Amino acid sequence: MIIRQAKKQDLKQIAELDLVLAMEISRKDFFKKDETILKKMEKPYLYRDFKNKNNIFFVAEEKKQIIGFAGGHIKTNLKFFKIKKVGFIREIYVKPSHRHKGLGQKLMREIIRYFKNKKIKVAQLTVLTNNQPAFKLYQSLGFEENRKKMVRRI
Ligand SMILES: CC(C)(COP(=O)(O)OP(=O)(O)OC[C@H]1O[C@@H](n2cnc3c(N)ncnc32)[C@H](O)[C@@H]1OP(=O)(O)O)[C@@H](O)C(=O)NCCC(=O)NCCS
Repeated sequence: MIIRQAKKQDLKQIAELDLVLAMEISRKDFFKKDETILKKMEKPYLYRDFKNKNNIFFVAEEKKQIIGFAGGHIKTNLKFFKIKKVGFIREIYVKPSHRHKGLGQKLMREIIRYFKNKKIKVAQLTVLTNNQPAFKLYQSLGFEENRKKMVRRI
């Protein structure tokens, strides 16, 4: 298994995993689990982001198959903050058959190292409160809660 920066040729497989990710983590109570809607949402942004130099994707590859990926981007123009740049980790996905083997941590570490090399001092992400595996993964890497988004039906 190797972890490497994604290439253009990987985008098809990443897009497929991205769709499975969206289907897996969407909250049933708020999102439509409709594959056609998600497909429309996910694909264009992936292809657009890949071309943007502020974006970064890493993949975990085994036997020429992508078994996991992590994507993020560098946020700038943070007018109200002391820090001018933040490394935002937007998504991470490991195929169910390869989970609990440390792959999630490896992908996270790779993307954090990438941001560090760019002299970025803060990494940020958001997580759905019902996503315990991801929450625990982030905690195991030193991420701390610093805000909560609240929602109610009205
Ligand atoms: C979250 C996810 C990436 C974790 O990948 P993974 O390869 O299984 O993670 P690791 O093996 O590196 O686990 C690292 C740590 O995360 C935590 N963790 C991972 N899966 C967990 C689970 N199901 N329950 C509780 N803690 C979990 C543990 O603290 C674990 O450390 P440990 O093994 O020493 O206990 C994977 O479950 C996944 O792809 N989920 C669906 C997509 C998703 O939710 N992405 C995040 C939002 S974009």
